Amino acid sequence: MDFDASNPSIPSSLSDAAIPSNSPIPSLRGLQVAILGSGKMGGILLQAFLKSKMLEPEQILATVEHSERASQLSAQWGVEVSTDNLSAAERADLILLGVKPINIPDLVEEIRPALTKKKLLISFAASVRTAEIERASGMEIAVIRAMPNTPSALGAGIAALSRGRFASEEQLELAAHLFGTVGRTVVVEEKHMDAVTGLSASGPAFIYIILESLAEAGVKVGLPRDTATLLAAQTTFGAAKMVLETGYHPALLKDAVTTPAGCTIDGILELEEGGLRVTLIKAVMRATQRAKELAKG
Ligand SMILES: NC(=O)c1ccc[n+]([C@@H]2O[C@H](COP(=O)([O-])OP(=O)(O)OC[C@H]3O[C@@H](n4cnc5c(N)ncnc54)[C@H](OP(=O)(O)O)[C@@H]3O)[C@@H](O)[C@H]2O)c1
Repeated sequence: MDFDASNPSIPSSLSDAAIPSNSPIPSLRGLQVAILGSGKMGGILLQAFLKSKMLEPEQILATVEHSERASQLSAQWGVEVSTDNLSAAERADLILLGVKPINIPDLVEEIRPALTKKKLLISFAASVRTAEIERASGMEIAVIRAMPNTPSALGAGIAALSRGRFASEEQLELAAHLFGTVGRTVVVEEKHMDAVTGLSASGPAFIYIILESLAEAGVKVGLPRDTATLLAAQTTFGAAKMVLETGYHPALLKDAVTTPAGCTIDGILELEEGGLRVTLIKAVMRATQRAKELAKG
């Protein structure tokens, strides 16, 4: 395939996994949504739901562990925030579970009296399987598992979704619609969720290290730090955008930068000798392995 940056058509292979956009958008009007565990990730989602006007402030019931934090967040976000999970779950149609993985079974036990088969549970905790949540609920309840990442704070996130045994296609679409407010969504089989956690949930940290290193390199070759950081960040962003919008294989895009006997190939030689490729593969493998263990503490 020849490289042609002027024709950035997205091949179906890249867009296939996304939720089909021709399906009618399920309405959230009139639904009450509880976010149990509104910490870093829960807070990002909550703010995105409000900012996108997907939900009105009156539709959201958030909870945290500490009451002083509840008051602080309530003032900050203009929504009801409490420490009462059971009450929030009783009043909600859709319940997001956002506490740490190890605390999910206890949280589901706690809200069990409020659960009915009409409610939908969406967990964005790493590691915890839908079957485990179904079991803790004590009923055949609809559960969807989501794995978002922190660039969701700027609408540039990606969330992988998979559904449990009792969740319908419509409920999956509803979840995609919600997570669509913070970026892209992709549906995967649940067996891939730990891999998603290792790649795209941990991934921003790996990319920040690469970006920071590129900026350090810029300083080493004489650039002012702020200029070096800007060059590194925009280059990282631009390269990702090229992959997403042209649909070309990254290797092909790399070849287009690499002039024979030019400077880029010398840099690539250093990267290969330093083992960047293998190091990144191992980092994702290790993070995936750890994601499998998180639910156990
Ligand atoms: N951070 C990420 O990049 C990321 C990405 C994808 C998924 N996740 C998942 O998101 C979940 C939360 O992670 P996080 O990074 O957002 O952690 P976090 O900032 O520590 O948030 C946890 C929140 O849960 C609250 N909490 C603890 N026990 C509670 C209880 N019994 N009832 C109600 N609320 C309770 C805490 O309350 P206080 O504020 O009062 O302490 C805190 O607000 C985890 O399961 C993680 O796997 C995180």
